[in-house]
Amino acid sequence: MHSFPLLFAVSGALIQASNGAPPPVQGEVNLDERGLVSGLPIGVLGSVISELNSLSPTATGTANYVSALTALASCSPTTAPTAVTQALSSLSAIYEATPTPNNLYAAIAMQIEEGLVGGDAATFLTSAEGALSGENSETNSNTAKPSITVYPKANSSDAPYDLTEAQLREVIYIPSTFKYGANGAPQPVILMPGTGSSGYLTFIGNYIPLLQGSTIGDPVWLNIPGFLLNDAQTNAEYIAYAINYIYGISNKRQVAVFAWSQGNIDTQWAFKYWPSTRSKVTDHIAFSPDYHGTTEANFIALGEPLPPSVLQQEYNSHFIDTLRSNGGDSAYVPTTTVYSGFFDEIVEPQQGTGASAYLLDARSVGVSNNEVQLICAGQPAGGFYTHEGTLYNALGYALAVDALSHSGPGLASRLNLGTVCAQAITPGLNLTDFLLTENAIVIAGFSLLVYPNKVTVEPAIRSYAASS
Ligand SMILES: *[C@@H]1O[C@H](CO)[C@@H](O)[C@H](O)[C@H]1NC(C)=O
Ligand SMILES: *[C@@H]1O[C@H](CO)[C@@H](O)[C@H](O)[C@H]1NC(C)=O
Repeated sequence: MHSFPLLFAVSGALIQASNGAPPPVQGEVNLDERGLVSGLPIGVLGSVISELNSLSPTATGTANYVSALTALASCSPTTAPTAVTQALSSLSAIYEATPTPNNLYAAIAMQIEEGLVGGDAATFLTSAEGALSGENSETNSNTAKPSITVYPKANSSDAPYDLTEAQLREVIYIPSTFKYGANGAPQPVILMPGTGSSGYLTFIGNYIPLLQGSTIGDPVWLNIPGFLLNDAQTNAEYIAYAINYIYGISNKRQVAVFAWSQGNIDTQWAFKYWPSTRSKVTDHIAFSPDYHGTTEANFIALGEPLPPSVLQQEYNSHFIDTLRSNGGDSAYVPTTTVYSGFFDEIVEPQQGTGASAYLLDARSVGVSNNEVQLICAGQPAGGFYTHEGTLYNALGYALAVDALSHSGPGLASRLNLGTVCAQAITPGLNLTDFLLTENAIVIAGFSLLVYPNKVTVEPAIRSYAASS
């Protein structure tokens, strides 16, 4: 029963955040009003999972979302891993079970039951209940004035923003540890989340603790309204603005962008249509990017309607086609991609040069594409990693550090792979961090289910992109 407040915390966050989002489709009802809160069956592992597995990916309407929420709400941990290696093998057993889960929600139910979420249910709940406050706030007061013009345009060649400057600026969470590019401080790093999560919830189990107080990078993060389920073109505006703003308040120190999943294609869209951003970024570290969307949409979908950004991340969506056109499938800044060929439950294909994560380099700015299983073949850091698992993968971290300490992207050839590949999780992270990172996918699943503004057609391409 622990999951109810979680549902409503996430739901509340998304509904509050939905101003400016596309209007709800006909018939969409606020889930709170459907009386979900009462009369729920208490799930038994087997029956909940078989119920979730039976939900059709091609249904119409929202009945499946309600069924999935009801089923998931009855899940609670029945066991807990005691070590990272055990947690990793328990996670791989879920995704390699026979038969494999039919959809993300059945997989999430298994993750919850196996205790593969942040600590216990209470911890999970607490992090979600804090959905819109403190380090997870979407309305931060950032009073520092940038030393360059950042709005309405940092350069006349930039696309126009649809959002106001106040809207763009308030999503940036600047921790009290941030040094504003002071002499001797490490370079600023902007942490950009992925679909269904916030910057805080995506990175609290990995790059927030790894970077804060380090000599590698000085992190800030973006908590974007709608948890990145709204129009990806809107999501891209936040990162475009943040790059210019953070540069402008940090003594014109160039920044790095660390992004997860959709956050990477939003960032690539920002580089493409806000060219002022490019010279301000030393490195883009792309964890599990989907530059070609995913052919696995059925794993996430319980039919249509779907959140706008989910439709936009289908393999041949208008958004993806537009992003990739005119050299958008090549890097604009030095880019280091880190992805899991075995096994990404969200993005496929994710293997070799055909991977959705694979970025070209027509402009010779420097790209390294790093499939962890190819570089660390047969070793712990080349084992089973999920879509979110690249965030705690030790090779990913070593490449990020290498990228930030050299010009150009991170290069595996410069690393001591014997040491790096021997680690199943980045040194400095522990089981708690592992589970907090796994939360990102569980929260994403809940967010997808409760997102109020689902649509059946992806948002129109904005005129600045349609005309170029
Ligand atoms: C604007 O962009 C152009 C083309 O990239 C560049 O030559 C120019 O210096 C930029 N102007 C400013 C003010 O950054
Ligand atoms: C992981 O480290 C954090 C502090 O860095 C600590 O609070 C937590 O208890 C640790 N968890 C485990 C399982 O050791």
